[in-house]
Amino acid sequence: MSTAIVYYSLNGNTDYAAKEIAKRLSADCIRLEPEKAYPTSGFAKFFKGGGSAVIGEKPALKPYTFDAAAYDTVVFGFPVWAARVTPPLRTFVEDQKTALAGKRIAAFACQSGNGAQKAFPKLKEALGITDFVAELVLIDPKDKPSDDNAGKIDAFCETLK
Ligand SMILES: Cc1cc2nc3c(=O)[nH]c(=O)nc-3n(C[C@H](O)[C@H](O)[C@H](O)COP(=O)(O)O)c2cc1C
Repeated sequence: MSTAIVYYSLNGNTDYAAKEIAKRLSADCIRLEPEKAYPTSGFAKFFKGGGSAVIGEKPALKPYTFDAAAYDTVVFGFPVWAARVTPPLRTFVEDQKTALAGKRIAAFACQSGNGAQKAFPKLKEALGITDFVAELVLIDPKDKPSDDNAGKIDAFCETLK
């Protein structure tokens, strides 16, 4: 079975998790980048990113390569922003919704506190599905490495094998 991991990461935690998952599943990684990058530090990071998430922006993305026909499973990864899905992923889902129909869909979220459980239903709604085949929440996995995170990643990947 072939798997794509489609994700956005501002500060590297989601990127770290995507690569750990990719290693275990031999999956392809597609990292989304908005044309206009979000600030990576300071007040502007929370102000711009948080504001963009709250108003439900769908920012234009830099060109990416994703051939939906090549995959039967698509794993979405995102950092939680204001208890929401990060905007670049919203753009991708809108662009690819038709092509994603019928795929096995899983999702993981990185956060520093909470909000993923509010964000997941929004992502399902945007995709027009009621369930993910697997779901994973990690606390800042790059900045706060832990055996707990590694074990959760293992369990998530086992479900998808
Ligand atoms: C704009 C913004 C909003 C955030 N909102 C939340 C939140 O609602 N809940 C939470 O637990 N963490 C929140 N965070 C923290 C990130 O989700 C968390 O640090 C994540 O691991 C970062 O992933 P990344 O390094 O891939 O960007 C927010 C971070 C940013 C920049």
